[in-house]
Parts: sequence; C-alpha cells; structure tokens
Amino acid sequence: MLVDFGVADEFSRAFDERPQAQHERPGLVNTTVEQQVREYYDHAGPAYHALMGQFWHHGDLAAERAGLSPEEAAKALARKQIDAAGLRPGGTGLDFGSGVGGTAVYTAKISGANVVGISNNEWLSAQARAYAAEQGMSERAAFLTVGDEDYKTLVAWPAGSLDMVSFYESVCHLPEKAAFFTAAFRVLKPGACLVGVDWIRRPFGEHLTEEQIAPFIGPVEQVISIPRLGTLDEYREMMSAAGFVVEAAEDLYPDVECWGSTPPDDGQGWGEYAGEQNTVIHDGKRVLDAARAAGVFSVARWVARKPG
Ligand SMILES: C[S@@+](CC[C@H](N)C(=O)[O-])C[C@H]1O[C@@H](n2cnc3c(N)ncnc32)[C@H](O)[C@@H]1O
Repeated sequence: MLVDFGVADEFSRAFDERPQAQHERPGLVNTTVEQQVREYYDHAGPAYHALMGQFWHHGDLAAERAGLSPEEAAKALARKQIDAAGLRPGGTGLDFGSGVGGTAVYTAKISGANVVGISNNEWLSAQARAYAAEQGMSERAAFLTVGDEDYKTLVAWPAGSLDMVSFYESVCHLPEKAAFFTAAFRVLKPGACLVGVDWIRRPFGEHLTEEQIAPFIGPVEQVISIPRLGTLDEYREMMSAAGFVVEAAEDLYPDVECWGSTPPDDGQGWGEYAGEQNTVIHDGKRVLDAARAAGVFSVARWVARKPG
C-alpha cells in the first residue's frame, strides 16, 4: 500500500534508495547526511523554537495524561533519566544534541552538576546560551557547536571523564549511531550512565511487517532529515555492543498511539507556521501525524550503564 502524504517532489521515494553515508538528492551532490541535518535546523530550529519553546522532546506519558504542559511533561521525563543516572552536584554531564538548551539547563539546575550541551548547528547553540543566561545558569550550563562528525569519537572529552551522557531526540539524526554509543562509552566514568530518549519505529495494529511500516516511516525520515529511524531493540543492541549494561529499554507509549503533547488538532499551530521553508514544516507535521495515527511511530527511553 502506498499512502499519499502530499510530500514535495524533492523528497520523493527515490530518496529511499540512498546509500547510508550520503543522500543523493538533486542539487545536494556530495552532501553528507550530517551536513543536511545541520542545514535542516537552519529553518527547523527557528520553527521549533517558535512552536515549542525551549523543550522539544516528548514528555512523560503519565504527566501528559495528568494534563501537565508539554514543558512540564518533558521535564518529568528528564527527571526520570537524571535520577536513573544518579547525576550529582559537582558532576559533569554531556547532553548530545541539546537544541535550544531547555533540557540541558534543566539538568544542570536540578542535579547541581555542570552540563555541556553540544549541537552541530550554531544558531541552536546560541539560543541555548541565551536561555542559560536568562535562567541564571551560564556558570553551570555551556553550549558548544561541534563538527558534523565529531559525534563518532567525542574526541574533545578524555576517556572516563563524564558522570552522564544524555540524548533527547537527537541520535535519530545520526547515520552512524553505533559509533556514537561507542564514543559515549569511552568518555563515561566506570559506573556512569548513558541515558536517552528517542524516536523509534515499531509494528502496531495492522502494520506489522517492515513493508507495512515503511510507507509511514519513510516519509518521516525523508522530510525530517532522519537517515533511518531505529527500533527499541536496535538501540539496545548497539548499546550492548558498545559495552554498556542496558538497565532500561522502554517504549514510552506501549499499546497506544504516540501523540505525545502534539495531538492531531494542532493546538500548537504547526499547520499555520509561516516562517522560512514553511512547507517543509507543514509536510513534517503531516507525515508525522500519519505515522503517529498508524501507531508505527513511538518514542522510547534507555538507561545504559558502563560497568564499574
Ligand atoms: C530535535 S533536536 C533535539 C533538541 C533537544 N535535545 C530537545 O529535545 O529539546 C536535534 C539535535 O540534534 C543535533 N544533531 C543532529 N545531528 C548532529 C550531529 N551530527 N552532531 C551534533 N549534533 C547533532 C542538532 O543539532 C539538534 O541540536
């Protein structure tokens, strides 16, 4: 079955044939996936900031059901991760893909630790720095823009130096996720945790095979600049292969469609967004809604400990 998402031609299904390391979009010859993601955030960054504020990732489902705001629900999920990692005052955390900084600043604030957020887009890092200053947290939350492929080594950090590495809906953008998990393992202290929240694909309802899932997930990958959406178990296996003991691997929306804080009624106004490249933002909302409605899109969390 093919579903018509009304996605612009430039994101046609031929895109699915792309090799892992490079997309072959017309006009983007020799453009790496990582570079395309950086450029995606040149327009998606301001859009997400306008529509979602400082916190972009999904929240804790119980908090959402209790009627808390998207920001409060996102903070509740972050607290769960920080608690699992046991980040303490004076410790050091690295938040990979920190966006405009909401969760990294919150992590520093509630844990008492110092947190460095990294992104490959300077506009995002600049917004995050401004937010840290506004929150009076600049001395304990810093934001760095790193090279597109630095995630494969995290070479700026010495081995065994960090008390927590976190990611919130950022690793999905990486074509070489396993390299990131290996790098995170290297930089963590023995006994410290990698904690993560990310978008996943999954079988759901009548969409059980990869062929049935792909018509919904393929357009999400194409429009939102995701090389390949992983599964709960793929992440778990990559973390284990890197050396971690995986203590939690949990689909956050088990047995329900993952609408999170963005229900189809579009109270946040994605459909009306009128900024730069707004058709990509509108397309993104449309294809994501279709995948959410089919149930094949979800969000998961992991807690993975480096053996002590
Ligand atoms: C959806 S945003 C997540 C923002 C934030 N974690 C939140 O939940 O509010 C994705 C983030 O991943 C970062 N990212 C994606 N690919 C990257 C790469 N190759 N290197 C560094 N950062 C990357 C982007 O720059 C951006 O900060």
